Amino acid sequence: MAHAALLLLISSTVFVGPAVSFYGASMTFTPGNRYPDGTVEMHFYYRESGKLPCDPQASWVCDSGDCGVLTDAEPGITDQDRSGQILWCQSERHMTTNVSGEEPFTLRGSGCCWANNVNDVHEWMLRSLVDTGRRSDTGTTNRSPVSATIPNIRVPQNCFQSLHLLVYDPDGDDVRCKCQSCHRHPNILLDEDSCTLSSNGTLDLGLHVFEFTLEDYPASNITLMNGDGISFRNPYNQTASANPAPLSQVPLQFGVEIQTPVHSCEPGVIRPSFLTPTPLHGDVQHAAVGCVHTITIRAQSLGHSTFDFQVSGPWNMSKTLRNASQGITEATLTWTPQESDLHHHVPVCFAAETIQSQSEMRCIVIAVAKLRVLSGEAEVFCEDNSISIAVSKASLKGIDQNWLQLRDPTCSLTSNDTHILGTMSLNTCGTRMEDSGDFLVFKNEINSFEDPNKVITRRSQVKIGFSCQYPKVASVSNHYTNKKSDYIFTESSFGTFSYSFDIFTNNNFSSWVDPSLYPLEINLMDMLYMGIAAHSALPEVRIFVESCRATPDDNPYSALFYDIIKEG
Ligand SMILES: *[C@@H]1O[C@H](CO)[C@@H](O)[C@H](O)[C@H]1NC(C)=O
Ligand SMILES: *[C@@H]1O[C@H](CO)[C@@H](O)[C@H](O)[C@H]1NC(C)=O
Ligand SMILES: *[C@@H]1O[C@H](CO)[C@@H](O)[C@H](O)[C@H]1NC(C)=O
Ligand SMILES: *[C@@H]1O[C@H](CO)[C@@H](O)[C@H](O)[C@H]1NC(C)=O
Ligand SMILES: *[C@@H]1O[C@H](CO)[C@@H](O)[C@H](O)[C@H]1NC(C)=O
Ligand SMILES: *[C@@H]1O[C@H](CO)[C@@H](O)[C@H](O)[C@H]1NC(C)=O
Ligand SMILES: *[C@@H]1O[C@H](CO)[C@@H](O)[C@H](O)[C@H]1NC(C)=O
Ligand SMILES: *[C@@H]1O[C@H](CO)[C@@H](O)[C@H](O)[C@H]1NC(C)=O
Repeated sequence: MAHAALLLLISSTVFVGPAVSFYGASMTFTPGNRYPDGTVEMHFYYRESGKLPCDPQASWVCDSGDCGVLTDAEPGITDQDRSGQILWCQSERHMTTNVSGEEPFTLRGSGCCWANNVNDVHEWMLRSLVDTGRRSDTGTTNRSPVSATIPNIRVPQNCFQSLHLLVYDPDGDDVRCKCQSCHRHPNILLDEDSCTLSSNGTLDLGLHVFEFTLEDYPASNITLMNGDGISFRNPYNQTASANPAPLSQVPLQFGVEIQTPVHSCEPGVIRPSFLTPTPLHGDVQHAAVGCVHTITIRAQSLGHSTFDFQVSGPWNMSKTLRNASQGITEATLTWTPQESDLHHHVPVCFAAETIQSQSEMRCIVIAVAKLRVLSGEAEVFCEDNSISIAVSKASLKGIDQNWLQLRDPTCSLTSNDTHILGTMSLNTCGTRMEDSGDFLVFKNEINSFEDPNKVITRRSQVKIGFSCQYPKVASVSNHYTNKKSDYIFTESSFGTFSYSFDIFTNNNFSSWVDPSLYPLEINLMDMLYMGIAAHSALPEVRIFVESCRATPDDNPYSALFYDIIKEG
């Protein structure tokens, strides 16, 4: 008896040890082999965020339907804070099951407890709805929406404006984000279609927890067929239903830690900003089994330096850090997809960390293909106002130009004997502008399309993404020689937007001095007018002159200078 009492005492002290805290989780799934008897192998990828200990705590059970027998691989840590401050940790777990595929089924994972949070939420519950029926449009089982977050999102109170979550669907379905817990945050608005949280008021300091369910809806009317390929699922008939059911549901849960305000929210000052070539949020990259895939991330901050980057996996992705130059830190992520990763769409989220703050979170998707995707040869020409692309026909064997289109199919491609050619202005033909932090990036793509009347498609797929990057900050230099009253200016264009820098003789900038007349002779105390203009047809582009200084020679960083414009 005495022994039993002692044992009880010891075991109870173990349970009051360090509290295990949950910081969120996400799940995606994708079908694997389909066996002749109609059985489908389903793969589940589960990521869970915490601090310490880092092991996933969810226990997954079958909630409804026939889930088969879940086979679990040993969980692995995808990323963890190595600074000793225990700021974040994330683990990933793969589960596989063989299901007969006659009925949809639901998996449920649950546990306790969320990390201390402003809403006092303790228990958490995750649910994934899976239907292994064959889609009439793709001929295979539906794939879930793909999303993830970094393990620990933190934002200074005065800087929280919006949070763009990753929403990607490998089947091209529309994804909607439902949020069961968002009503607890009175100052948060959710756009279900773009999966964006935005603030309309100040959030309290502390951890705010968000429990999302991602649902996918087909963009066209489809049906789901049973394994036999003849009979149809009831009730899933998108054509019939006015209020369609989602094809699948997967959880996305995360916390946002609202921290004490900082004096500047401008990216790059206290919060690190990303620099080129960091991938843009929502980018889809392609990788091949057995080939190393590399992602380079660069971040800059004027204050504390970036000591690490949070990265949300996948398993076996390695990260090396490098101080690129003053205030700029670079991370190189490398990952070699295995045979078991084939056809998976793997989400990767990342953010740069400083002691005081964190950058925005960006997420991308890596699509894994069998072989290295054949790459053609193309050249892109970036002009002031237009982009041209020339794709070598010899490098795309058997591809017919008539089955290629730009993002906006009404813009046509042309060709000469050797190349397929496309030219578009920066804001036509479906060209999209994105802000990478230090560059404006204009992206378009050439895609193959199918004859919609053909039942079987055999054409090779072509996807040629291309972009032009224009620096947001350019330096228009002026030259000045130290000859009392001689002012010599040259017109310059830097990067690929062009700028002009001219001298005018009147204050309404109507009378311009021809640069061939330089150097100008101007008397001391005479007024001189200088005009800088950016030449771009884009309505979104505005010029902002950050600084302008006069120096006695053509070195803008000369020790002797006079500030004409400083800090804008
Ligand atoms: C599913 O069934 C196939 C064929 O019987 C088998 O090779 C595979 O290991 C099974 N997978 C699971 C997770 O049970
Ligand atoms: C927040 O949004 C709601 C609904 O759109 C609106 O009624 C409310 O006034 C907004 N609050 C603030 C502080 O802007
Ligand atoms: C699907 O069918 C319904 C009912 O016929 C129709 O109202 C709806 O517009 C269709 N949707 C699409 C995307 O074609
Ligand atoms: C789906 O519903 C539409 C409209 O009710 C019907 O015409 C069609 O036959 C149904 N499809 C299947 C596969 O049951
Ligand atoms: C991770 O790498 C190890 C060693 O290369 C390998 O054995 C293991 O299968 C990999 N795990 C995954 C999930 O790729
Ligand atoms: C980068 O520089 C910082 C500050 O000088 C230093 O603490 C850090 O260890 C360096 N990181 C690497 C990867 O060299
Ligand atoms: C086709 O156009 C490309 C791009 O302008 C050019 O480089 C190539 O020489 C042209 N080929 C012929 C045969 O004119
Ligand atoms: C500009 O100013 C000059 C005198 O400074 C004047 O003669 C001219 O009419 C003005 N032009 C315009 C367009 O206002």
